[in-house]
Amino acid sequence: MRSSIRTLTIVISVVGAFAGFYSIRQDAQIVQKTAEPPKQGVPEVIILAKESKVGTVTFNHVKHNSGEYTVDGPIRCIECHHVSQPASEAAKHPPLKTVWPADRTTTLTMDLFSKDPKGAAVAKCHDCHARKGETPKLLAAIPETKDAGSTTITTLTNQLAFHQACDSCHIQIKANRPDSKVPDAVTCVSCHKRS
Ligand code: HEC
Ligand code: HEC
Ligand code: HEC
Ligand code: HEC
Repeated sequence: MRSSIRTLTIVISVVGAFAGFYSIRQDAQIVQKTAEPPKQGVPEVIILAKESKVGTVTFNHVKHNSGEYTVDGPIRCIECHHVSQPASEAAKHPPLKTVWPADRTTTLTMDLFSKDPKGAAVAKCHDCHARKGETPKLLAAIPETKDAGSTTITTLTNQLAFHQACDSCHIQIKANRPDSKVPDAVTCVSCHKRS
């Protein structure tokens, strides 16, 4: 008697497992039909500030670049990857002027990256915006900008470049959509978490 109950339980759980498996497979098929092309090589979630004493930052790259998070519309790659466009385009947004590679003719998009990841040539922010006191990989020195009409020079270390890139957009969004869940620039723990 006991063993037949056990057999029955096993049968039910095996059937259950198959049913579960089957419905997942069906979902997967539905997703496949409507999903965008594969984005291999584009990191989905990036852990930043790995060496920071104030704590690491978990940055959801895919939510920021897939159209899930929006400003007026989807956020374009070059909003962040500012060197991944032709020099003539970058120059329309001073102080931006530097592009990489220097003879670049393409503008980074998901489409460009999917077709030719190598040709899309995405450089890491860190390869130019190094930490204070460190030499960047792609430049002779950490980038500097001079404020228009003043002599103040800003050295765009990783800390400054990332804060400026992230905060400038979040502040704008908060002003237009007070109920948004964007991090608050001065509430450090809205990004930096100590594990
Ligand atoms: C929008 C999210 C965000 C907020 C808010 C934020 N930070 Fe950061 N912070 C970052 C990112 C991203 C980096 C760059 C990390 C990297 O280089 O990988 C960074 C870098 C730093 C670094 C340099 C870390 C290192 O070791 O190189 C320090 C220090 C820092 N932040 C302190 C602060 C303080 C203090 C506050 C609050 C006033 C703050 N941050 C608010 C995202 C944020
Ligand atoms: C909101 C800012 C933001 C947007 C928008 C964005 N990215 Fe990124 N992306 C980053 C950050 C930050 C990193 C990490 C850079 C680092 O580690 O220095 C990164 C890293 C990458 C990397 C990995 C580079 C490497 O060698 O590790 C690829 C590839 C990439 N992004 C492609 C894209 C594409 C394609 C788009 C547009 C569809 C896009 N990104 C949009 C911020 C952004
Ligand atoms: C190839 C080197 C390089 C890479 C890669 C790079 N930057 Fe920069 N960045 C610069 C230089 C150089 C400047 C100064 C302006 C110029 O020459 O275009 C700058 C300027 C900036 C500024 C200041 C813009 C302003 O309006 O004052 C921010 C913010 C910034 N970068 C963030 C980032 C982020 C975030 C990434 C990665 C998603 C990144 N940068 C990747 C070289 C780079
Ligand atoms: C061009 C605009 C833009 C830029 C640049 C940007 N963000 Fe965001 N961010 C958003 C929007 C939009 C949201 C979502 C707001 C909502 O859903 O209410 C968001 C939400 C977030 C959140 C909270 C939700 C989550 O995903 O955990 C974090 C953390 C965050 N961003 C980190 C960053 C960091 C770190 C950077 C810089 C590397 C950055 N963002 C750059 C627009 C931006």
